[in-house]
Amino acid sequence: MILGLLKEQGTETRVALLPETVKNLTDLKAEVLVEKSAGEMAYAPDSAYEEAGAQIVSRSTILEKAEVILQIQPPEKDFLEKINSGKVWISAFNPLWETELVKQFKSKGITSFSLDSVPRTTRAQSMDILSSMATVAGYKAVLEAGLRLPVFFPMFMTAAGTIRPANILILGAGVAGLQAIATARRLGAQVYVFDVRSAVKEEVQSLGGKFVEVEGAIEDKEAGGYAVEQTEEYKAKQQEAINNQALKSDVIICTAQIPGKKAPLLISKETVEKMKPGSVIIDLAASSGGNCELTENDKVITHNKITIIGQSNYPALTPLDASRMFGKNVFNFLKLIIGEEGKLNLNFEDEIVKGTCITHQGDILNERVKSLTENK
Ligand code: NAI
Repeated sequence: MILGLLKEQGTETRVALLPETVKNLTDLKAEVLVEKSAGEMAYAPDSAYEEAGAQIVSRSTILEKAEVILQIQPPEKDFLEKINSGKVWISAFNPLWETELVKQFKSKGITSFSLDSVPRTTRAQSMDILSSMATVAGYKAVLEAGLRLPVFFPMFMTAAGTIRPANILILGAGVAGLQAIATARRLGAQVYVFDVRSAVKEEVQSLGGKFVEVEGAIEDKEAGGYAVEQTEEYKAKQQEAINNQALKSDVIICTAQIPGKKAPLLISKETVEKMKPGSVIIDLAASSGGNCELTENDKVITHNKITIIGQSNYPALTPLDASRMFGKNVFNFLKLIIGEEGKLNLNFEDEIVKGTCITHQGDILNERVKSLTENK
């Protein structure tokens, strides 16, 4: 198999494979072509890729020679025009939202894999880029809040008096939320947490967070560990509880999401206007609409002395470790499509290969993406 690793475009600083992972691939007899300067922003020089057994080449050489083309971000506009049919594209391109892109993959006859569609099963855990990147985001969000906050996180008992610890409210205790709880606790803050899934209560408590319960949530064990849409009555009760807690908080970290849907709106403009001046809201769900009504994607705004941050790519602010985690996940996935003597082997009998594949030979394989694409 000839794998081509592209340099990311725009503001992305990560790279899909670091040299350490390229070495794992060349050990499996895969040939790896790396676009010049692909790892530059993640502190991985071309020389390190060459030492790992890769060849440094131009972008056009990758397009021409690679059977499998890899990057983190979706292909940039018009890029698919340059890729021949029959090639395999691997990145994270959010196919539940990006239906136009899915249609283009389909019509160009490109086999596309979206790493954000890896099934959430035990066997696929080592390939779960969403969990890896959410871990980075949960951690970084708390650090950013700490830097911007006019008060300390921990309690200080000093000769100048006692300073009370900050209160942090975390909405959603999935991967990003749990990492945010752990990080905030390590820094000594008091942490309060809301989630519609009662199953996370024990995890929240074991990390030292206080689980704020709102009764009556709908839970679906078939939803693969994800939340489902809630009733209007529940939403109203939850709104009131969140509002009460928000007014006591110095920081709110928003991580609530239901896959493929707009992020649930949990913090209204009115709530923001009643919060303590100087408080900070970090809305990790910014790219899917945000949990806060005032969030603007990829912007930092202030409203009534409350800072609202809609940074939607925290992993790009931690490029080395984020690339390391992403690369390990990709490698574990690539192992499934590398056969004997390093040859490309797409085995659609494998539930992970099948579940992650979005388009193949002019068809949309993923049923959920197919129905969303055809209904748009
Ligand atoms: P996840 O699916 O593991 O967790 C989301 C949690 O929200 C679940 O526990 C779910 O039960 C909960 N939830 C859903 N609806 C809720 C509601 N109405 N009220 C309270 N809780 C609710 O997702 P993960 O991986 O932790 O990601 C969280 C968010 O962070 C996503 O929006 C994701 O796109 C975003 N993200 C942002 C990054 C950034 O740099 N800004 C990077 C990575 C992820």
